[in-house]
Amino acid sequence: MVASLDGFIARKDGSVDWLETSDEFVGGETLSPGSVEAFLATIDCYVMGSRTYETALNFASKGFGWSYGDKPTFVLTRRQLPRIRDTVEFYSGDLEQFVNRRLRPRFRAIWFVGGGVVAGECVRLGLADEIRYSILPILIGDGVPFFEKLDTDVALHLAEVTAYVSGMVELRYEVR
Ligand SMILES: NC(=O)c1ccc[n+]([C@@H]2O[C@H](COP(=O)([O-])OP(=O)(O)OC[C@H]3O[C@@H](n4cnc5c(N)ncnc54)[C@H](OP(=O)(O)O)[C@@H]3O)[C@@H](O)[C@H]2O)c1
Repeated sequence: MVASLDGFIARKDGSVDWLETSDEFVGGETLSPGSVEAFLATIDCYVMGSRTYETALNFASKGFGWSYGDKPTFVLTRRQLPRIRDTVEFYSGDLEQFVNRRLRPRFRAIWFVGGGVVAGECVRLGLADEIRYSILPILIGDGVPFFEKLDTDVALHLAEVTAYVSGMVELRYEVR
């Protein structure tokens, strides 16, 4: 996910207006549409929490489209939510069983979109092989943390660092 430097992925009310930062890091890399497309092609399916899905529904209703293409998208929820695409499936229950028994045999690259509750659950259950953490050049003071309710230490290996001209720094960690 993309976070503020102080570790938040959304404001408390769920808004992500602060994602539009305007900085320039001279010598940083540029994200080309081609490289984004090539990267997205490596993802086999998406998993997200219901609140993240609700943000995606809100974006879609405002005409900003659907970011997950035709890839299977699994939404975790105990509620009844509108299903806006055939590729969307809902799941409720044990996340470890769902990922290890249902998703891993079918998909290689499983991308956890977020948010903080699901990221925390995923790391706590030992389901993550990699963490992609992008930092934007902004502090927002309060909000939804990247990892909710993480009650244990998780040792990581820093595998990749990329700084972009926009001032965003992308960190890729492998979970040890
Ligand atoms: N900055 C970024 O890159 C980024 C990325 C993703 C999201 N976000 C933002 O983060 C915010 C949402 O994060 P969040 O931490 O509040 O929520 P979240 O992780 O998106 O969703 C949490 C919800 O998922 C459901 N859930 C989780 N585990 C479940 C399980 N095992 N079985 C059934 N349901 C399960 C529960 O929903 P129910 O109550 O429906 O049961 C839970 O309340 C949004 O504002 C979103 O826009 C930001």
